[in-house]
Amino acid sequence: MIQYRLATIDDVEGIQHVLSTTWLSTYSNLKPETIEQVKARWHSTEFLSKQINNEKFYFPIAVDSEEVVGIATSGTREEEAVDLFRFYVLPEHQGKGIGSKLFVMVEDRYPDAKKVRAYVDVNNQQGIEYYERQGFKKIKQETEESFGEVMIEWLMEMEL
Ligand SMILES: CC(C)(COP(=O)(O)OP(=O)(O)OC[C@H]1O[C@@H](n2cnc3c(N)ncnc32)[C@H](O)[C@@H]1OP(=O)(O)O)[C@@H](O)C(=O)NCCC(=O)NCCS
Repeated sequence: MIQYRLATIDDVEGIQHVLSTTWLSTYSNLKPETIEQVKARWHSTEFLSKQINNEKFYFPIAVDSEEVVGIATSGTREEEAVDLFRFYVLPEHQGKGIGSKLFVMVEDRYPDAKKVRAYVDVNNQQGIEYYERQGFKKIKQETEESFGEVMIEWLMEMEL
């Protein structure tokens, strides 16, 4: 049975596994060097541990028999708007309702929020379709340069 709970430092390795697996299939358009740099910085034990210990972030995970199979990370940079920074479920566990449950946990965490925002790579058709089906709308495209590679992302928002 899948358990849903907040991440702890002991989950970092499992979270890294979810991230490295889903990043490869989600961002196959990125150069391998860029993916390596993302892993070394944003998926590092230090970076993830700091977020888990920082009460400004909400970091729920889904665990199946001690294996981390899904993660979400959210926060609020602006009052009344929730930012969904990460949202990933291992490919073999997708489509079983795990993402929906994590999403509801995020919504419940911010009872006063008026909207949820997410940035999705323009090439991530699966992610865009998923968010549209949940009621998100494309707001605008934003360009960001990370590790020397230009990434174009849709800012998507859903009213709560
Ligand atoms: C997006 C993601 C987190 C959703 O998690 P999930 O556990 O697969 O989603 P669920 O099983 O809860 O599905 C919820 C709903 O989305 C739909 N859905 C799932 N995958 C979908 C897809 N690829 N395209 C369109 N709809 C999809 C389901 O049919 C379901 O619809 P319903 O509520 O009307 O029945 C997961 O598919 C994933 O990790 N994708 C790759 C990474 C990614 O793109 N992340 C988001 C952008 S960063």
